[in-house]
Amino acid sequence: MCGIVGYNGNKDCVEILLDGLSKLEYRGYDSAGIAVRKDGNIEVVKEKGKLANLREKVEKKKMTGNCGIGHTRWATHGEPSENNAHPHISNDGSVTVVHNGIIENYQELRAKLERHGYTFYSETDTEIVANLLDYYYKKYKLGPIDAIAKTMVRVRGSYALGILFEEYPDDIWVARKDSPMIIGTDKDGSYIASDVPALLKYTNQVYYIDNLEMACLKKDSVTFYDLNGDEIKKELKTIEWDIASAEKEGYEHFMIKEIHEQPEVIGKTLNSLMVDDKIDLSKVGLSEKEIKDISQIYIIACGSAYHVGVCAQYILEDLAKIPVRVDVASEFRYRKPILDKKGLAIVISQSGETADTLAALRECKEMGVKTLGIINVVGSSIAREADHVLYTLAGPEIAVATTKAYSTQLIASYALALEFAKVRGTIDNKEYNEIINELKTIPEKVQSIIDKEIDDIQKLASKLCNLDDAFFIGRNLDYAIALEGSLKLKEISYIHSEAYAAGELKHGTISLIEDNTLVIGLATQEEIFEKTISNMVEVKSRGAYVVCVVPEGSDVSKVSEYTIEIPKTNKYLYSSLVVIPLQLLSYYISCAKGLDVDKPRNLAKSVTVE
Ligand code: F6R
Repeated sequence: MCGIVGYNGNKDCVEILLDGLSKLEYRGYDSAGIAVRKDGNIEVVKEKGKLANLREKVEKKKMTGNCGIGHTRWATHGEPSENNAHPHISNDGSVTVVHNGIIENYQELRAKLERHGYTFYSETDTEIVANLLDYYYKKYKLGPIDAIAKTMVRVRGSYALGILFEEYPDDIWVARKDSPMIIGTDKDGSYIASDVPALLKYTNQVYYIDNLEMACLKKDSVTFYDLNGDEIKKELKTIEWDIASAEKEGYEHFMIKEIHEQPEVIGKTLNSLMVDDKIDLSKVGLSEKEIKDISQIYIIACGSAYHVGVCAQYILEDLAKIPVRVDVASEFRYRKPILDKKGLAIVISQSGETADTLAALRECKEMGVKTLGIINVVGSSIAREADHVLYTLAGPEIAVATTKAYSTQLIASYALALEFAKVRGTIDNKEYNEIINELKTIPEKVQSIIDKEIDDIQKLASKLCNLDDAFFIGRNLDYAIALEGSLKLKEISYIHSEAYAAGELKHGTISLIEDNTLVIGLATQEEIFEKTISNMVEVKSRGAYVVCVVPEGSDVSKVSEYTIEIPKTNKYLYSSLVVIPLQLLSYYISCAKGLDVDKPRNLAKSVTVE
């Protein structure tokens, strides 16, 4: 949700800013802008729409300079327009700001500033920050740190700020609270970015700036300050992701590249959680006693990560016999949950920055409940705040619609369920070893599905791309995957789609089924196979076009118009296989409709505002 970049160094900053923004475009893409210093002046160029529009304008102006900040926007306050695009400048141009986050008390601050004679050209909360900084800077005349600190105390909400003060031509200033921001450094200069991919081309050496901290970036140094203006020492960290993983590498879209990466990242994540054919969670740091004492599990997440939670619920309850409740984070945080202090809260998040998930984590901690994060981005807010972290090794995920991070989160859930079951004595050795052996085959089975299905699914997609509605149905774990399949389809193809527990259709939704309505039926769970097939027969007899995803050898001839067979596996692990054709189908339908697959309308990769 909005991306920020900045560079101060020996090289020309314009290409670094534009290139960095292109790596962050998945965070917001309704407008973009940069501010560049040259010979004592700060030149600001902004443009509505995709980054390509900004690039064209910048190239025409032949901008150059060694210090600048940039922003790609996902509108919160004010429509997408050049005027509302960042950077924003204070009334007399003394302060220039890019901002990611939301200032909640912006109306009150605007009124205050208006009383002091400030005027506003945009509808954004960010312009208020620029003027508030200017106000404190001029009122107290104590320099940028003091002005930023006073502003931080006065604003409510979330922010990552990149700031230029006209009178400090050698510096970029930074402040952060509850919005992501990392600071990179190399021999050529200092960098800021909302996310790792924007930096990887230049450096993998970063500092993590914490909440309510400030920093000053010079060409050759970065200094951190707390709210009192006292200097803080920080350790430089190395990011392990390689640059290739943030590039398309010949694929047409990041999404299809990331679908293809799944066998590898599933294998990597699994290997990181196993030693000698046994699950080993020592890196996560939960002791056997802690695992035995868990009375209840609360899983909290948003979107696809929530769907992983739904899968995990079925598996954890069945294997480890621990009661599990799964919540969407935005509901959890406001439903005044009653939590048992002996419970464990598991929050799942690719980015580690999702505002609602972060807030839910904090709520659990405040209520004295132990927290475990299943997180992909090292050093992200949730990773830093959770008591325990299980890292998925999906690498950078750029496409807005998640695929590989989702698949690695599933692996993390299997590992937790197996370990909890073993420690609590609810699984015997035979079943444990069977599941482990099957788990090890998941990467190659995922690969075989991609290889076998890719061409046929592409053809199926061109046939289905003009549909208006789709329904995904399944029971138990297949219902959890139906949720994910349906979200994938709607978010990138804009086809209205719903997921239903197959047995629930008859309670209302079946009235929507008519001739040629697409119903994708998932039936991998042997114990309830016949029941799900009966539900498919019910929709077929009302005219539905039924596509079935089933284990190879299943007889669905009486119901299926098109069948996707997946390799057989253990009943708990089918989710990892079923999701693959569903991802491919959504991807190719979006392509067939000529849509922007990686950046679907209205969406941003990382939802850092509530
Ligand atoms: C859908 C998708 C989103 C995310 C959700 C949570 O394809 O990617 O639904 O799963 O926004 O994001 P994280 O995992 O970063 O907390």
